[in-house]
Amino acid sequence: MVLLTGHKIKVAQQIKRGTAAVLALVLVACNGDSSTPATTTTPTTVPATNNAPVVNIQVPDQTATEGVAFTFDATQNGTTFSDSDGDTLAYSVTFDLTDTGLTATGGEISGTPTIADTIVVTITASDGNGASASDNFLITINPATAALTGPSLPDTPFNYADQDLPDHFTNPNANLGNVDRTDNTPNNNPITDAGATLGRVLFYDKSLSANDTVACASCHVQENGFSDTAVLSIGFEGGETGRHSMRLGNARYYQRGRFFWDERAATLEQQVLQPIQDSVEMGLTLTQLEAKLIDIDYYGPLFEDAFGDDQVTSNRVSLALSQFVRSLTTYQSKFDEAYIAASGNPNNFDLVFTAQEQRGFDLFRGRGNCDSCHSTSAHVSDNVHNNGLDIGTTGDQGAGNQRFKAPSLRNSSVGGPFMHDGRFATLADVVDFYSDDVQDNPNLSNRLRNNDGTPRRLNLSAGQKADLVAFLETLTDETFLTDPKFSDPFLQD
Ligand code: HEC
Ligand code: HEC
Repeated sequence: MVLLTGHKIKVAQQIKRGTAAVLALVLVACNGDSSTPATTTTPTTVPATNNAPVVNIQVPDQTATEGVAFTFDATQNGTTFSDSDGDTLAYSVTFDLTDTGLTATGGEISGTPTIADTIVVTITASDGNGASASDNFLITINPATAALTGPSLPDTPFNYADQDLPDHFTNPNANLGNVDRTDNTPNNNPITDAGATLGRVLFYDKSLSANDTVACASCHVQENGFSDTAVLSIGFEGGETGRHSMRLGNARYYQRGRFFWDERAATLEQQVLQPIQDSVEMGLTLTQLEAKLIDIDYYGPLFEDAFGDDQVTSNRVSLALSQFVRSLTTYQSKFDEAYIAASGNPNNFDLVFTAQEQRGFDLFRGRGNCDSCHSTSAHVSDNVHNNGLDIGTTGDQGAGNQRFKAPSLRNSSVGGPFMHDGRFATLADVVDFYSDDVQDNPNLSNRLRNNDGTPRRLNLSAGQKADLVAFLETLTDETFLTDPKFSDPFLQD
């Protein structure tokens, strides 16, 4: 039997080599009674045959990224081709483009792509007996993404810690209220240039979301005063936030130091970690966040600059993000120019303001009493208030009794829609509301009531409404909205 089996192999090999072969009947006999002596008969001549390999599993198209190491086994672990004869297959790979950074050894492709393009790849399997088969597939090389190449930052960090705040922000005795007193910066987290720089990178980094699709800046857009033009913002898996995104300029000057429309975060340091962990917004645990950031090369040096060593902790993420958010001070609007020109005298802002803007300002701080809630020259609310929106007892109750905080009115002209639910599309709609629609409810702020207790609707003429809107537009700070130090560091030029 052993001998016969050996013979069988040899015959098969001869057939494959394409030579005429002798097929002995003994091979058949061997399946019979082993005690029967093998007998040979007349040899039969068969034609030479070799079956070519065939494609068994097509190679799927691949994607790679410029600048990122890539390896791929185009044989798919030896399953791309099959050979019915069981031949050992030899593989070769060709590319339709050269100088791509990719090379192949056998069916194994590797290298770091140096171009962004689509390469047609051909893998060929040869059976060693003159027959072969090929399959084509594409490798699409995407351009290097900024997140992989890292942020571009100035050699000397921008100045965040010591911004050139005007006297009406820093002087405790400034007219229209003491801004300095309202600063919610805690002693243990003062703004440093390196800390805010790290905060800026984190703020714009989509790595802070579970699937790398959403950054803080996705919902807080600089040109919109760090808010979102959508009524509700879209999180990492397409879900909607429960409320409208808040503008972040001058958030530092909310004296009560609590954050969100309903003040549910006791500090900014606590607030900034919540969107990261929110199941709609970014969807990471803090442990996952730390693990992700540790793996990203550009963070080590940024943490070291900010905190003295490269250890990545969620607490440090919180401190740095808070520093960046607090650095978003907006103080270079037409209002500030007018304040400086008028030395803070509210009657003389028309040294810079148009007559209409001055009339609007007079309404804002006079009959409108708007500045009782949207206070100081930073235009930040002083507390949570019920401002008479039509909410109802089953609607969003905010901090309780339908009280909400308002972000600074700075840059509201580019930061709508307005209110916690984004119900008003324009500032004109907001002014219409204060003029005509303030609703009575048991918790309406006394600041919005007449002496007899009825809701105070300003009943403005069309001209007065336009005046008030014109004033609100003087709070727009183009420098802030375009300042490179607050911009996306991942946008390479
Ligand atoms: C998916 C959209 C979205 C993302 C992502 C997002 N935010 Fe927000 N942000 C909001 C919304 C909506 C609110 C208001 C929520 C509320 O009050 O219930 C808000 C509120 C805030 C506030 C409160 C402002 C104030 O004056 O009280 C701060 C600060 C803030 N976000 C910072 C951040 C930071 C930092 C990040 C990234 C770590 C971030 N946000 C990510 C949508 C988003
Ligand atoms: C009793 C305090 C109070 C008074 C007075 C007041 N507001 Fe408000 N304002 C608020 C509160 C609270 C909110 C946020 C309410 C919400 O979102 O539910 C708000 C929101 C706004 C907003 C939208 C802010 C945003 O980012 O969505 C604008 C604009 C505004 N007020 C302008 C005015 C003007 C103009 C006046 C004067 C005619 C005025 N307010 C009077 C408390 C007040």
